Amino acid sequence: MSENASGTVDLLDKLCVPVPALVIGELLGVPADQHGELRDAATAMVTFDASSQESAIRLVQAVEWLAGTFTNLVRAKRNEPGDDLISGWVRAGDDADILSEDELVSLAFLMMLAGLENAVHLCGNIFAALLASDDPLATIEDWSARRGTVMEKANPLPFAIRRFAIEDMTIGEHPIPRGDTVLLSLFGADSDPARDGRPSLMFGRGPHYCLGAPVADLIVDAVVPGLFVRYPHARLSIPESELEFRPSWRAHGLVTLPVTLAG
Ligand code: HEM
Repeated sequence: MSENASGTVDLLDKLCVPVPALVIGELLGVPADQHGELRDAATAMVTFDASSQESAIRLVQAVEWLAGTFTNLVRAKRNEPGDDLISGWVRAGDDADILSEDELVSLAFLMMLAGLENAVHLCGNIFAALLASDDPLATIEDWSARRGTVMEKANPLPFAIRRFAIEDMTIGEHPIPRGDTVLLSLFGADSDPARDGRPSLMFGRGPHYCLGAPVADLIVDAVVPGLFVRYPHARLSIPESELEFRPSWRAHGLVTLPVTLAG
């Protein structure tokens, strides 16, 4: 991770995108010689800007690359299974005859979509909070005790996946007619004064609890202390108030994270 001429790096681009992309890629069984393209596809997905045609073209190319790569992988893993998720799904599908090739490819896509953006923005938000604090190293020394609070504050996901009302209902004073789309605010629930010590909903709750929560933990625990061990003098290159968040209601994450590593 080398600094550019002005002595800064975009930590989002250099660390927060590539690590989750590679972790999820390895989990799925993407071969090492395709990791560069995987990283580029991940960048196109995470930086997608609906107002830019160039960005839309990059996104379409990324999606096409991922679809082709996952389709080839599903076929390759059938002949030569490995110790990875796609091989496991192929075996499970073949044994019980329940997962078609399309479903296997969609499942691989879901893992990439569900995991990548959240993990990228979670890492970025944690770094932004720590680097803006007076003494990031004190937090790192005490990381295992403080990570829960730091992570919750850095939650990148304002809303759960949408739900649909299957019958008329009323929640509080709000009538919800059958068939309506319902968005559950995870930020709202976590900051509710009536929460009364209940656990964070950051990773959801119940049968749809985040499948990747242990992976998110692994990524954060590797990447966050790792940066401060390697670069104990890292600091934000711009005032915290100038950090720009993506104009999205779906994801709470930064556009860039300019950091000075040394000095
Ligand atoms: C890093 C931060 C992450 C956050 C904050 C997060 C948050 C969530 C939440 C709140 C849900 C439940 C949504 C709902 O009930 O509507 C969920 C589901 C899910 N997450 Fe994550 N996630 C993260 C990372 C990951 C990763 C790294 C993966 C995969 C490697 C992943 C895969 C999934 C999948 C597949 C589901 C759907 C589970 C189901 O519907 O049964 N997530 N996530």
